[in-house]
Amino acid sequence: MPRVIVLDPLSQDGLDLFESAGNIEYEIRTGLSGDDLKHALSEFDGAICRSGVKITAQSLEGNRRLKAIARAGVGTDNIDKDAATRQGIVVMNTPGGNTISTAEHTIALMLALSRSIHPAYQSLIEGRWDRKLYMGTQLAGKTLGIIGLGRIGQAVATRALALEMQVIGYDPFLSTQRAKDLGITTCDSPKDMLPEVDYLTVHTPLNDETRNLIDKEQVDQMKRGVRLVNCARGGIYNEEALVEGLKSGKIAGVALDVYPSEPCTDSPLFGMPGVLCTPHLGASTEEAQTNVAVEAAELLIDFFTTGAIRQSVNMSPLDPKTLEGMRGALNVAYRLGMLLAQVDHAPPISCKVSYQGEVCKKDTSLLSSSFAAGLMQHAMDCEVNIVNAGVLLRERGIELIEERSTDPGEFSSLITAEVVSEHQTSCASGTLFGSKPRLVRKGEFRVEASLDGILLLFNHRDTPGVIGKVGALFGKHRVNIAQMSVGRVSDQPGGQAVGVLSLDSQPPAEALRELLSLDAISRASIVKLPAANELPAWMGG
Ligand code: NAD
Ligand code: MLT
Repeated sequence: MPRVIVLDPLSQDGLDLFESAGNIEYEIRTGLSGDDLKHALSEFDGAICRSGVKITAQSLEGNRRLKAIARAGVGTDNIDKDAATRQGIVVMNTPGGNTISTAEHTIALMLALSRSIHPAYQSLIEGRWDRKLYMGTQLAGKTLGIIGLGRIGQAVATRALALEMQVIGYDPFLSTQRAKDLGITTCDSPKDMLPEVDYLTVHTPLNDETRNLIDKEQVDQMKRGVRLVNCARGGIYNEEALVEGLKSGKIAGVALDVYPSEPCTDSPLFGMPGVLCTPHLGASTEEAQTNVAVEAAELLIDFFTTGAIRQSVNMSPLDPKTLEGMRGALNVAYRLGMLLAQVDHAPPISCKVSYQGEVCKKDTSLLSSSFAAGLMQHAMDCEVNIVNAGVLLRERGIELIEERSTDPGEFSSLITAEVVSEHQTSCASGTLFGSKPRLVRKGEFRVEASLDGILLLFNHRDTPGVIGKVGALFGKHRVNIAQMSVGRVSDQPGGQAVGVLSLDSQPPAEALRELLSLDAISRASIVKLPAANELPAWMGG
């Protein structure tokens, strides 16, 4: 039964789903870091977290068990996604579940800043009645600038418009028309809006482009008395610039929910007049936490029960319906990759996957990734799947190309994979017979064999007696032959041929040596494939 580790406090509604699923065990282990986290992660198949735990490359290093991480929330910056991708671990998030709560928190901070709610209450409980000191400003009629008009930015905009603010915004991916429909005036760059805004809020991810997006230079361009809010990620505003701006009176107020490093209990901004800070509470409402915990638990349950990958931030989504419709073809491509990895032991330089017939109607890029996963799996220590296979090929400079032809050939669907190494080009074709992957061509030879279990592939001269000798040899070594297929290029005997044997057990090295010493046999390889009904986890196995 798959085991899931719960790394941050999570709403009980999400955990209850694991209970009712009945086929997943979970264990709560919060507050982990360093070696404790690494060790804990190695004992589980799935992990679920919020933003507290830091899943670093070091904490995933050498992990051969973990398959999926679900983030109950939007930002996945606390997870090293490159490291996860390299190890074939799917990272999924739950965008949307906390949008409204975070937008409301942004508005709450703007209102609190404008009316000095927090210092006014503080002075009151300290025994003062300072009505003059806390003269505020209205939001109505003011201009709000929003950088980042995704889910939360747009939700803030609609709420600000309801408060009768003017909203101007910048987002490189929001069309002018959509902005117009929302009542937002767009700018060509953040720079253009800065002199206009009374309030500024940011709702972008933190990345190289957005780090220090608002620095001293940008603060200088703003109106005197501007108020700034950040409920996105710490680091988008440069903290030194904020301190300086507050000291000079250029900035009237700063409200932060997020910090460059969290947890944060010490900041040069803490305690400064005009500053209001909350400890990353944007999504901390009962509603948002129920939403994200339930959604994250569902993602893991679906992943472990049907193989469905949804809302992944490190791979293209594969919903259960798509997976169902593609599983057979994915399986053929995967097994062809595994087979070709074992017939030539030299490092591949390039690969080509050709699709013929009906299979062209499917998402062949996923099928090619599945082929790459099979090819790389053999050589890798970690699980290789359609998430990381492409990266692993690219990291090794192996080119993967695809060809498609809708012409129906001999089969309604045919997948042909070719791997080029320094010494040779190996090629095999497979198709589905019902739901069973079959090998139908090895190189130029037409064969007919199951693509599972232990196979012996051998090239030989098509002369009488060869097959008998091979059978006798395996009999001597007590290896049972379950199936045999022989194929030759032309109908004429005497040329080159290929034999494929399905064996019930792994033949000893001695048997292979004796086989290769037979006059008519030029090459032989043992290929180990998964059993007929065995699928990798990412294919729903
Ligand atoms: P989203 O993906 O829906 O929106 C982000 C938007 O930023 C996108 O539209 C994107 O085009 C835009 N963007 C990216 N780079 C930009 C740039 N250089 N300039 C301008 N716009 C840019 O994400 P969301 O759900 O709206 O979340 C926004 C942020 O809020 C994320 O960083 C998320 O982690 C954070 N967040 C914080 C809390 C909290 O508790 N404080 C809760 C939820 C989300
Ligand atoms: C998020 O990215 O979803 C938020 O930062 C909320 C959280 O981490 O809880």
